[in-house]
Amino acid sequence: MYRTHTCGELRIENKGQAVTLAGWVQTIRKFGSITFVDLRDRYGITQLLFRENMNQALDENPIGREFVLQVSGAVSERSNKNPDIITGDIEIDVSKYTVLNPSKTPPFTIQDDTDGGDDLRMRYRYLDLRRNAVKKNLELRYRINRIVRNYLDSHGFMDIETPFLIKSTPEGARDFVVPSRMNPGQFYALPQSPQTLKQLLMVSGYDRYYQIVKCFRDEDLRADRQPEFTQIDCEMSFVEQEDILHIFEGMIKEVLKEVKGIEDINPFPRMSWHDAMRDYGNDKPDIRFGMKLVNLEKAAKGKGFKVFDEAELVVAIAVEGCGNYSRKQLDELTDWVKRPQIGMQGLAYVKSHTDHTYKSSFDKFFNEAQLNDIASACGAKPGDLILIMAGKEAKTRKAMSELRLEMGNRLGLRKKEEFKALWVTDFPLFEYSEEDGRWMALHHPFTSPKKEQVALMSQPEHFGEIKANAYDMVLNGNEIGGGSIRIFQKELQEKMFSALGMSREEAQEKFGFLMGAFEYGAPPHGGIAFGFDRLCAILGGSESIRDFIAFPKNNAGRDMMLDAPDQIDNKQLEELQITIVKE
Ligand code: AMO
Repeated sequence: MYRTHTCGELRIENKGQAVTLAGWVQTIRKFGSITFVDLRDRYGITQLLFRENMNQALDENPIGREFVLQVSGAVSERSNKNPDIITGDIEIDVSKYTVLNPSKTPPFTIQDDTDGGDDLRMRYRYLDLRRNAVKKNLELRYRINRIVRNYLDSHGFMDIETPFLIKSTPEGARDFVVPSRMNPGQFYALPQSPQTLKQLLMVSGYDRYYQIVKCFRDEDLRADRQPEFTQIDCEMSFVEQEDILHIFEGMIKEVLKEVKGIEDINPFPRMSWHDAMRDYGNDKPDIRFGMKLVNLEKAAKGKGFKVFDEAELVVAIAVEGCGNYSRKQLDELTDWVKRPQIGMQGLAYVKSHTDHTYKSSFDKFFNEAQLNDIASACGAKPGDLILIMAGKEAKTRKAMSELRLEMGNRLGLRKKEEFKALWVTDFPLFEYSEEDGRWMALHHPFTSPKKEQVALMSQPEHFGEIKANAYDMVLNGNEIGGGSIRIFQKELQEKMFSALGMSREEAQEKFGFLMGAFEYGAPPHGGIAFGFDRLCAILGGSESIRDFIAFPKNNAGRDMMLDAPDQIDNKQLEELQITIVKE
């Protein structure tokens, strides 16, 4: 037996017991004739005491950081207790130790505050994973995994695996493709999600499906995106939107209760896509704070100030208690909105003073009463700061939504330990892509239109008005899940593909399998998928999902540890009948 206990297990009750532990050397502290060693494993840290005779043994058979040791000895009470660790009352009076394996000096310290930069830690991810901070994240991930599985299991959902080597299904991103040796010149695609497969399972009668499953998308990466990520993917038959919202609101509440101890959560608010765009400037509003966007069409236009008069949209936010911002602070904010990421030409402001007077960046054009109208429109109180942007509608709205979040951050209104979820509903079915010169599905082409608008599916001039039976769950300003009630009749699905500019033949070639299945008794169905990595990161208080994935890719999509992607041998290429064309 390698060990009798783990390094996180022993307490004062074990005093006097002979024990054997195994683990990694965290630190070594020599004090003259005695040495203290912290031994670490997944469960904790236990202090080892090497008294004089054992200390001499250490000289002959030395140990170093990250050596793997097996030690035996008696549990004794520490004279100098450490209340910060669970084993802090005891230490092991070592009578025997064996080096099970030595270690090179690690490239960074394996501690909470490590000296290793991102790249180094990614390259030696197996060492990074030994650190408490990363371990805690993986533990949280596993806990959430268990809660979700238990919840879905208790609601009759069945975990069914679906293949990874499939046919390309468009979901907005590029596919990762895999060549086939047995079918030269042909490629599988890795699923961007199991979307069509879970729908086929509904046709097969498995009316409550779920899977915690890898998805693959070749898209530009950000803190909340990885090329392979995990979804909690679900689908149900004989349901309406309300049934799905009910079940999955329950699931997220269960997670919040178990993980964060939040018990009495009210029903999640519902917000239409239209209202979210109007009030927050985006479709994943952070509702932990107010500062809603206000359209200043009436209050700001027609006063002779060209910037406002010529703009498609004049939009403002009132920032509480910031009416005393200095020139320097306002200049800095203006520079912030002028950065290429935001791309605005400038920022206008009205300072509402506590003595009920105003000072604005456009005083030349507006009198006191007109400034007061702007303040009233924004619901600003004396002492508040009103920030105003004007320009092209979509860009200005987006920029204001970014500025709102930035002000929320600066004022500490986006508290990590406060959790506010909502449903965003009634998305448009289509959005027009100027780039492609055609209508695209906002969610994906399997999303159904509102029943009463089905007729508009044959009238391209009305495509922009059609609303979808689609919904997103948003938590603290992040889209953590999205889904829809699906199309389940062949004719409507055909209409959808045609609206997206696909010929009958193309639709048949790409999605014949699905439309074929719809001819054999497809039940009404719908579903949702949650971004599991995102859910973990938000509950763990982190911006980056990487911290919650055991072996993540870097921002260039590379696995730094495996050094992948990589070239393959000529022999492999030949078997696949693939030639690499060098530029
Ligand atoms: P969607 O594309 O909205 O829907 O994805 C569902 C959720 O997955 C998360 N997500 C990601 N997380 C990390 N990295 C990525 N690259 C990434 N892309 C998406 C988000 C998102 O809300 N098949 C549909 C679901 C359905 O209709 O049932 C789908 O995949 O949190």
